[in-house]
Amino acid sequence: MPSADQTQQCGARILQPDPALAIQKYRQHAASYDASARRTMALRRRVVGLLGLAPGETVLDVACGTGLSLPLLREAVGPRGRVIGVEVSPEMIALARERAARAGWDNVTLIESTMEAADLGAPFHAALFNYTHDVLQSPRALERIFSFAGPRARVALAGIKHPPPWLFPLRLYRLLKARPYLTTFEGLEEPWRLLCAYVPDLRVQPVLAGTNYLARGTVHPWAQP
Ligand SMILES: C[S@@+](CC[C@H](N)C(=O)[O-])C[C@H]1O[C@@H](n2cnc3c(N)ncnc32)[C@H](O)[C@@H]1O
Repeated sequence: MPSADQTQQCGARILQPDPALAIQKYRQHAASYDASARRTMALRRRVVGLLGLAPGETVLDVACGTGLSLPLLREAVGPRGRVIGVEVSPEMIALARERAARAGWDNVTLIESTMEAADLGAPFHAALFNYTHDVLQSPRALERIFSFAGPRARVALAGIKHPPPWLFPLRLYRLLKARPYLTTFEGLEEPWRLLCAYVPDLRVQPVLAGTNYLARGTVHPWAQP
């Protein structure tokens, strides 16, 4: 299992993600976030489908943003299930809260916190990582998340990655597009790499010319509390 110490600093170059910077960035992006995420709605539906949710289950929405996945997750677990969303940006989670209040869901819990410190209060059957690059690069966040994983919990991921090196112009374009939404560019070759310590059977499928990926797997028993 990776330890918190695995996060490194290399001279002045900070390799680790920075939640304080994320708060700053998403203060500017919260209002326009839903419009910018429209083009990835099809992938969002696919990744939620990969979780294989059943009615009555508890699902964690990691760094849930404005709550765009909440309707899909809530529909999959039904009124007797539970959805827990965690998000560090006050502006993003305020929009998620409005969404939940408008829908009148009483089984959606939204927690304003870093993933590194979040207290979920309950084990989860499945966890969604939809465009959560910063969290995936944080050993402390992963350690915290998987301390709440129930037996044989499932995970599904969608996100951005570097396209193959021979698509160099696309790589540059991808970096520029992603810049407002990330606090670290580290790990873009294999954004899921640290997760493999908890989910050794992770299966990854590159999509959209290798600029994005989908993945799913099952949490290994020793990664559980
Ligand atoms: C690209 S958005 C994705 C939001 C959401 N998952 C979605 O599917 O639309 C990334 C989100 O991660 C949040 N975030 C970044 N670092 C975080 C951390 N350490 N803990 C919790 N949230 C974090 C940001 O504030 C932002 O809302």
